[in-house]
Amino acid sequence: MKIGILGTGHIGKTLVKKLSAAGHDVKVANSRGPDTIEPELLTSGARAVTTQEALEDVEVVVLSIPLNRIPDVAPLVARLPEETLVIDTSNYYPFRDDRIEAIEAGQVESLWVAEQLGRPVAKAWNAIGSDSLATKGKSAGSPGRIAIPIASDGERDREVAMALVEDTGLDAFYSGTLADSWRQQPGAPAYCTDLTREELGRALAAADRARLPKRRDLGLAVVQERLGDGGANPDADWGVRLARVINM
Ligand SMILES: NC(=O)c1ccc[n+]([C@@H]2O[C@H](COP(=O)([O-])OP(=O)(O)OC[C@H]3O[C@@H](n4cnc5c(N)ncnc54)[C@H](OP(=O)(O)O)[C@@H]3O)[C@@H](O)[C@H]2O)c1
Repeated sequence: MKIGILGTGHIGKTLVKKLSAAGHDVKVANSRGPDTIEPELLTSGARAVTTQEALEDVEVVVLSIPLNRIPDVAPLVARLPEETLVIDTSNYYPFRDDRIEAIEAGQVESLWVAEQLGRPVAKAWNAIGSDSLATKGKSAGSPGRIAIPIASDGERDREVAMALVEDTGLDAFYSGTLADSWRQQPGAPAYCTDLTREELGRALAAADRARLPKRRDLGLAVVQERLGDGGANPDADWGVRLARVINM
């Protein structure tokens, strides 16, 4: 597929590498321009472009930027044809994203994103830590393959997003509509806990909406205490152990 990815951070850079290695035609942009994109990201054929170019003539757009930067790209996203699938990887962290009153009042994060963009999105790759995404992928059918949730309102969006998730070495698990996607938000049992397909269904069902913000903030407080100012990303196993203790 022709895919445009915005963001070359912890998650975006791995998606660029994996989706281009899987044979997709990938363009990628960050906020600073194509010259700042590391050549290492482009070794499987992905092309570094401007933000505007990344959204031209593509079938799928992946937004892997901080949630509070979504409104910045909304005017460009608004120009996409209706049939272009937009996949969002974002999560809300008030310390990073500033306080977003609608989400604080209980709006589901992906519905807030869809509202900013004025179009539906599929939510994927939000519930796996970047180290797990980069290092723990396996081929389909491998024992213990990690499953991640994909939320979407449209059937075709769901099929395409799930196929792309499989191409990144993970089992794709349909988690339901965007309205129900709070079950995969930070603090939920399914969030960054590296579960298998069998375990993930139970984890999504066990989510307790009222507890999510507190558990998200507890997890973040531990990360900040142990790893500094929050800019560092914990290694995969430490982060997964922590998420299991707090979220499950
Ligand atoms: N880190 C994780 O383990 C993890 C796991 C799952 C989901 N997520 C979510 O996925 C999203 C990305 O996370 P991350 O950790 O990869 O973030 P990150 O490391 O901070 O990287 C963010 C990227 O977004 C780019 N960006 C910001 N505004 C942009 C714009 N207007 N146009 C184009 N690019 C723009 C930045 O560009 P520059 O490089 O030029 O600054 C940067 O490359 C976040 O919402 C996060 O919550 C993160």
